[in-house]
Amino acid sequence: FRVDMDASAADKGTYPFYMLKEVDEQPVVMRKIVQEYLNEDGVPVIDQDLLETMKKADRLYIIGAGTSYHAGLVGARMFERLTKVPTQVFISSEFAYEQPIMSERPFFIFLTQSGETADSREVLVNIKKQGWPSLTITNVPKSTLSREASYTLLLHAGPEIAVASTKAYTAQVAVQAVLAKAFGMARNQQEAVDFDLKQQLGIVAVGMQAIVDSKDQLESIASRYLATPRNAFYIGRGIDWSVALESALKLKEISYVQAEGFASGELKHGTIALIESKTPVIGIITQDRTAGLTRSNLQEVVSRGASVLTIVSKHLAQADDTIVLPDVDPLLTPLLSVVPAQLLAYYTSLGKGLDVDKPRNLAKSVTVQ
Ligand code: G6P
Repeated sequence: FRVDMDASAADKGTYPFYMLKEVDEQPVVMRKIVQEYLNEDGVPVIDQDLLETMKKADRLYIIGAGTSYHAGLVGARMFERLTKVPTQVFISSEFAYEQPIMSERPFFIFLTQSGETADSREVLVNIKKQGWPSLTITNVPKSTLSREASYTLLLHAGPEIAVASTKAYTAQVAVQAVLAKAFGMARNQQEAVDFDLKQQLGIVAVGMQAIVDSKDQLESIASRYLATPRNAFYIGRGIDWSVALESALKLKEISYVQAEGFASGELKHGTIALIESKTPVIGIITQDRTAGLTRSNLQEVVSRGASVLTIVSKHLAQADDTIVLPDVDPLLTPLLSVVPAQLLAYYTSLGKGLDVDKPRNLAKSVTVQ
């Protein structure tokens, strides 16, 4: 089995917008990552030298901007669970001008689709001066951050043209999962050994396909709930909160709905004041431990008139849930829960007649600080 991405990958084909094409490509990208990074037995194929360098680290620092920062928030949870090495995530433009108190032996992971983001590069330049090792995870070979870091891992997502990042986000999450498993195994962590990433990414690819095949349903949800409101909220706990942040960013970037992602438990400490009749609140529920809590937070907004939608893993689903996701390992649920959010943003933007691929005021790659 082989998946090849050639120059035609940058051709829109019959798609009205690149974004839709790129959302649709995600199952193929997952299979491509399996093919590039996991051998027959599901063991990660990662540069030994990189793993030896990472083994010397006492803490991982993940740096990114925008969607890449959000992918890092998910990655940090994977690294901590599978490697037991403390991991922190920073917005690059924040880290660049106020470096926190560092651990003794930091290792830096730069997440950047383009490999050209000036804010992220500023951090790389600074940490190199301090003699610290780094890895860039990027979609663009030979990009600036790839050339300047000690190591590079490629996303293999194929060219991403739409300004709103979709397949690069899921590829960043998947490649971090590969690296977390490899690094965890190098540190003899049983949980990393036992994590059947190859099988799980296969389940993800099939699950993503099922979601992108339900476009009609997502288009009608978008037109019914998101076409007119000025604002909307995504809420979740833990890893679902990380996805809520990315989901809200997608919606605001291309549909200009003022959307925010919140930790469900935090909503009642202020933001709930914004809930009016028919304000859309979308709950992401994929984790056993927190499902009941997020559901009770949704009840609180229902009683204030919100229009509640849910994106829920199958084993946690109830009769009135809106979007039911296939089940997958709890660490990989972002790969599925983000896809309906991407499509809801897409159809909201499309329904408003906006230029989905080129939203106002935004650039694909930001090379100023
Ligand atoms: C820009 C894009 C975002 C992207 C961010 C980081 O703001 O509009 O979609 O997430 O840059 O880009 P990078 O290439 O570093 O991942």
